[in-house]
Order: sequence, then structure tokens, then C-alpha cells
Amino acid sequence: MKVTVVGAGAVGATCADNIARKQLCNELVLVDIKEGVAEGKAMDLMQTAQIEGFDTRIIGSTNDYTKTAGSDVVVITSGIPRKPGMTREELIGINAGIVKTVTQNILQYSPNAIIIVISNPMDTMTYLALKSSGLPKHRIIGMGGILDSARFRYYLSQAMQCSPNDLQANVIGGHGDTTMIPLTRLATYCGTPVANHLSADVLKKVAADTMVGGATLTGLLGTSAWYAPGAAGALLVEAILRDEKTLMPCCVSLEGEYGQEDICIGVPVVIGRKGWERIVDMQLNDEEKAAFAKSADAVRNMNAVLTTL
Ligand code: 2OP
Repeated sequence: MKVTVVGAGAVGATCADNIARKQLCNELVLVDIKEGVAEGKAMDLMQTAQIEGFDTRIIGSTNDYTKTAGSDVVVITSGIPRKPGMTREELIGINAGIVKTVTQNILQYSPNAIIIVISNPMDTMTYLALKSSGLPKHRIIGMGGILDSARFRYYLSQAMQCSPNDLQANVIGGHGDTTMIPLTRLATYCGTPVANHLSADVLKKVAADTMVGGATLTGLLGTSAWYAPGAAGALLVEAILRDEKTLMPCCVSLEGEYGQEDICIGVPVVIGRKGWERIVDMQLNDEEKAAFAKSADAVRNMNAVLTTL
């Protein structure tokens, strides 16, 4: 198995680190546009091989896509990250050109790859990768919902003083501060609704904190987060390469599901060796349906910006 991670910044390098530690593939290529950065990070990661006990071969490449040839999965993290006070949406002008070029370069050498998009604004970048590549929809997956759901579980676990691993809680909709939808009503703790354990006010705060989870970290770090985004990308790679059929909220192309079409947005999907295999209907109530429609409108407005670039 061969995996490429494009963008050797903090998110890309963390994703590569997780992929190597989990030994998901025998060959891992890290690509970056900045001279020497991918080679340096690949060498640094390779020097953890004996310490961590993996035998994945990691190589770095400064923008030479011939090295990525024959990749089974490609993770795109390229583009500029957020600065404090910026929304993900403000990155569209620069990141759209980058994501489009990267997608074309990748497909030239790995025509059968499944593509994972992490670059922001993630929903629009996933849509752009789908439209500009003409690939079958099942092979393009935006990662955002896995990260947002992990943050939702983190905030729930803090409020409940429990392990995040005992929680089932998903975030659907867009990967934006105002577009994501933490599904509080459907969140459970060991099979019981979290509403049985937390007051409505606390649950409201958990949902609000989740929605600005990325912005909170950007404020603290001065740039976008990387540990959870990188780990979430690797989890998706794992579900694909191991053909897990795991249910994960991911950004995928809708053709009528959840009442939407011609859009890529977060919904629960089954992930396996072919990419995303099917969408699962969460049976939203009217309020959740309305929130989803509003989120889709915002994502669609952002997609419309692509035509003006
Ligand atoms: C985040 O939410 C980078 O969009 C990513 O941290």
C-alpha cells in the first residue's frame, strides 16, 4: 500500500506521523512546495522508526509528483492555515488554486487514488476537488466531521467527567464555525442519551464550544491546530486501507440525500476500501433538518465564490 500526504506543514506531518505509527502502508510520501521541508520531515520521521517500531518507508519530495506515483490514498493538507480572528472561509482565494493544482498533479501519477481533503474551507475544497477532477464521487472525501465529532466528544467528556471513548456523538453539516451541527439529541453515553446526564444549558454550551473548537485553538496557538486534524486524517486513511466499513461523519457529494444536491457537506458515511460507500440517514427531526438546510445554504454560497476566482 502507498499513501501520499501533500503539504508537510504541521497537519500534514502529524497525519504522516500517525499513518506511519499505525503502519497503514509500506510506502509513505510527503510532498511540499517549500524546498527541503518534506525531505527534512520525512527524514526526521524515519528516525523515529526504530523508536516507534514501524517499518513504513517515508520519503519526502519538493513538489516532484513522480515520487507519488501509484498511491492508493492521497491526503491533501496544502494551503495556508488560519490566523487568529480569521474564519476558514477567508482562506478560499489562496487555497482554491493550490487544491486544484495539487489534485491535478496527484491524478496524473495516481489515477486510481482515493482523495482525502483537509485544506480549508474544507467543504468547498472537497467540492472543488470533485468538480475539477471529474472523479467518481465515492473517491473524494472531506475529513472535517471526524475532527469536529472528536471535539464534540472532548467537550462532552469534560462536562460529564467521563471518557470520550464511552460517548457516541456526531457533528454533521459544514466544517465552519457557524455551519457545523453537533447532533446533541442523538449523542449517547454508553447507550443512554447525554440529555439524561447534562442540563440543557450545559449541552448548549458544549455544542457552542464545539462549533468554535478550531477557532479557540487558533487563538491559543496563533495558527490552526494540527494534532487532532492530523490524527483524524490518519483515522480516515486507516478506515479506507483496512476496509473497515466504519461509520464516520465526512464531507461527501450529495445527490438528494438529506434533501441536498450539487454540494459536498458533512453526513455520516460508511468508509471502506472504495472510499465512502454509503450515506446513513440519521433521521433528523424538523429542527435538525432546518439547521442542515441552513448549513448547506452557507456552504453553497461559499462554493459560488469559486466561480469568481
Ligand atoms: C481545524 O478545525 C484545521 O480546520 C481545521 O482545526
